[in-house]
Amino acid sequence: MTTGKGAHSAQVAGDGSPSAAERGSSPGPDLDERLDALEEDAARLGQLEGMVRQAARLVKDSQELVYFHKIRDEGFHRAANEVIESGRTLLEKDRLWTLWQAAKAVARLGLPAVEVGSFKGGSAYFLATAFLAAVGKELPVHVVDTFEGHPASKIGKDEPKQVVGQFSRTSYDDVREYLSHFAKIKVHKGEFTTVVSKLKDERYGLAHIDVDLRESTLDCLEFFGPRMERGGVIVLDDFQAAKCPGVEAAAEDYLAGDDSFQSWIPRTEQLVLIKVA
Ligand SMILES: C[S@@+](CC[C@H](N)C(=O)[O-])C[C@H]1O[C@@H](n2cnc3c(N)ncnc32)[C@H](O)[C@@H]1O
Repeated sequence: MTTGKGAHSAQVAGDGSPSAAERGSSPGPDLDERLDALEEDAARLGQLEGMVRQAARLVKDSQELVYFHKIRDEGFHRAANEVIESGRTLLEKDRLWTLWQAAKAVARLGLPAVEVGSFKGGSAYFLATAFLAAVGKELPVHVVDTFEGHPASKIGKDEPKQVVGQFSRTSYDDVREYLSHFAKIKVHKGEFTTVVSKLKDERYGLAHIDVDLRESTLDCLEFFGPRMERGGVIVLDDFQAAKCPGVEAAAEDYLAGDDSFQSWIPRTEQLVLIKVA
C-alpha cells in the first residue's frame, strides 16, 4: 500500500482533474497542497534533526557527568570550570584533565613549561594553576601565539579547513593582562619560528602544542622534542581531529626520526608524548 504525502498528492493528481499545465500558468490547488505538504515535511525533519542533536548532547553530557564524578580532585574541577566559564579556552574538560595530569606528573622536575597556540590564554592560565596546585609554587610558563590567528605562511595545501587569521579575536595586550596574575608567565607574540630565539631555556618539563597546522606543529616538535627533560611530557592537541589532519601528519613525521618518546593516545583527540630516553 502506498502511503505518505507524496503518494496522497499523486492520487489526487491522478483522479482525472486537469493538470497544472492543462489549467494554464496557475499551479492550481493540488500543486499548492503538495507544496504545503512538502513544507510541513521539511519543518518536521528540521525539528527531528534538532531533537537528535539535543539527544546526542544529552548522552555526551551524562557520560561526562558519570566520568568526571569519579575525579575527586576539587582543584581540577575548580580550575577547569573557571577557564571554561570565562570563555577563555576552546578546550573541554576532558582535554583539560589530560593537561592537569601531565602538569602534575612533571611539576616535580621544576622545569619551565611552554604553550604554543594560546588564543585567549585560558589553557595557559589553567596550566599555571595546575603547577601551583601540584607543587605549591609557580613554574615558569612561556606562552606563544601570533595573537592574530593562523599565519598564512604555515597553512599547507592539504589543510583546506584551515583559514588564515582564524582565531584572531584575541590580542597580546588582553592575554598579557589576563595572565598577569602569574609572575612567572612570559607571553611572546609572533609566529613561532620568529620568536623562538626568545626561549632561552635549555630544558623543558611540559610542552602543550595547540596550533592545528602541520608545519606549525612540526616546527614545535623539532624545537622542543630534543629539549624535553627525561620524564617531561609533550601534549599535542587535535591529534586525529578531522579538522586538523596536519597534527597527526606532523607527529608521524617527527616521531619517525626520534625514538626517545613513548606515545599515549587518550580518547580526547590529544597525543601524549613522554620523554623516556
Ligand atoms: C585552536 S587555537 C588555540 C586554542 C587555545 N589553546 C585554547 O585553549 O583555546 C590555535 C592557535 O594557534 C596559533 N598558531 C598557529 N600556528 C602558529 C604559529 N606558527 N605560531 C604562533 N601561533 C600559531 C593561532 O594563532 C591560534 O591562536
